[in-house]
Amino acid sequence: MSGVIRLQTEIPGPNSRALLARRARAVPRGVPAVTPIAVVHADGAVLTDADGNRLIDFGGGIGVVNTGHRHPGVVQAVREQLDRFAHVCFPVSTYEPYVELAERLNRVTPGSHEKRTFLVNSGAEAVENAVKVARYFTGRQAVVCLEHGFHGRTNLAMALTSKVMPYKKGFGPFAPEVYRIPFPYCYRCEADGPADGRTDGRCCMASRERLEQIFASTVDPDSVAAIIMELELGEGGFVPAPKEYVDALAKFARDHGILFIADEIQTGFGRTGKLFASEHYGLVPDIIITAKSLAGGLPLAAVTGRADVLEAPHIGGLGGTYGGNPLACAAAIAVLDAMEAERIPARAQRTGDRIRAQFREWADQYPCIGDVRGLGAMVAMELVADRDTRTPDKALTARVLAGALTRGLLLLSAGTYGNVIRVLAPLTAEDSVIEEGLAVFGAALEAAAGRAPALA
Ligand SMILES: Cc1ncc(COP(=O)(O)O)c(C=O)c1O
Repeated sequence: MSGVIRLQTEIPGPNSRALLARRARAVPRGVPAVTPIAVVHADGAVLTDADGNRLIDFGGGIGVVNTGHRHPGVVQAVREQLDRFAHVCFPVSTYEPYVELAERLNRVTPGSHEKRTFLVNSGAEAVENAVKVARYFTGRQAVVCLEHGFHGRTNLAMALTSKVMPYKKGFGPFAPEVYRIPFPYCYRCEADGPADGRTDGRCCMASRERLEQIFASTVDPDSVAAIIMELELGEGGFVPAPKEYVDALAKFARDHGILFIADEIQTGFGRTGKLFASEHYGLVPDIIITAKSLAGGLPLAAVTGRADVLEAPHIGGLGGTYGGNPLACAAAIAVLDAMEAERIPARAQRTGDRIRAQFREWADQYPCIGDVRGLGAMVAMELVADRDTRTPDKALTARVLAGALTRGLLLLSAGTYGNVIRVLAPLTAEDSVIEEGLAVFGAALEAAAGRAPALA
């Protein structure tokens, strides 16, 4: 049998089940076990579980391994750095990998203006720090975020996150001075324009008047330090914002002295077919935050932005014990090398086009596929119980995911209503692996949804 999937036991096998049972006694249930498998090895886009089963990974550790599991350049860079030193604390002693990474991020992020970068440990920490710097620079307190957005699990990041369950329920009080405006989610548009599910860049919310109206009942724009936005929602269901809306919002921000923070934690590092999603929009954010695939599997996040903005806080106001760990910096430099040498963003566009074409073909066959969307290889389908009412079908989504896993494909869901299946496959995955994964996806979809007559 050709292909990379090898199933030796049912999924999960006995060894995975045993470790999950130990986990349940040692780790609180609040940390979810999205799949019931225990992993012992990973390479490229392939996971080996504790029972020797080989599965294709279309989740990429939630968008962390765009360069694939254990990219050879990343492994070598981390090994070499480990032989030198693992930690000295950057605020205490300077080391080159941190400085080099900052220089590289300043160069490759959108805009040719002078920039600065500092490094932290996680996406949520980058969110916290971006807002902290924006408040310092502007002397303003309010922060505006968007509906369906996800920014992390620390107190401020939780406040900026839209979805209540599981991210917010019971965890208040939340950080103050956070205001939420609509995200242009065309498929579920609630504005007074036609809700025809289009994603062609026309947006009924993208006018000056409309934004003035939105802010009139939300917050005084002149008291807002920053707007933080995912240009394509990640956890919120892979919804790319229409360019028209981003243009209007960015101009509105500029006119009111509001800083624009692009949260590129999930969209970054080639995922959307460009190094950063901002490039699709011709957007030059004042601050851009990155994490996830930045360091190819090691924990690292970055806050990059205008030099005048990032230089504002006083000495000692920024930093942390572990931020910019040298192993993670070495990994991130290797990721940037791979992005260039292997032309990973262009490859992502090709892979994404193939996946989107397959999803669209399925959408012609299955009425349960309400929408297919996404930039580059940040592709998703939204499953509905009824195409007319667009009622989200979370149960069907769960059945497709479970069916795919038992057949050897790890898939992840997303969306405020839990009815979106998203693809975050490593961008280095060979075409044959993508095809094999799609074949399994198709089988799981057919088993869960039942083959329906082609739609007219
Ligand atoms: C867009 C976005 N922002 C922030 C975060 C939070 O990152 P972390 O989980 O590393 O704190 C995530 C994580 O999924 C994310 O997708």
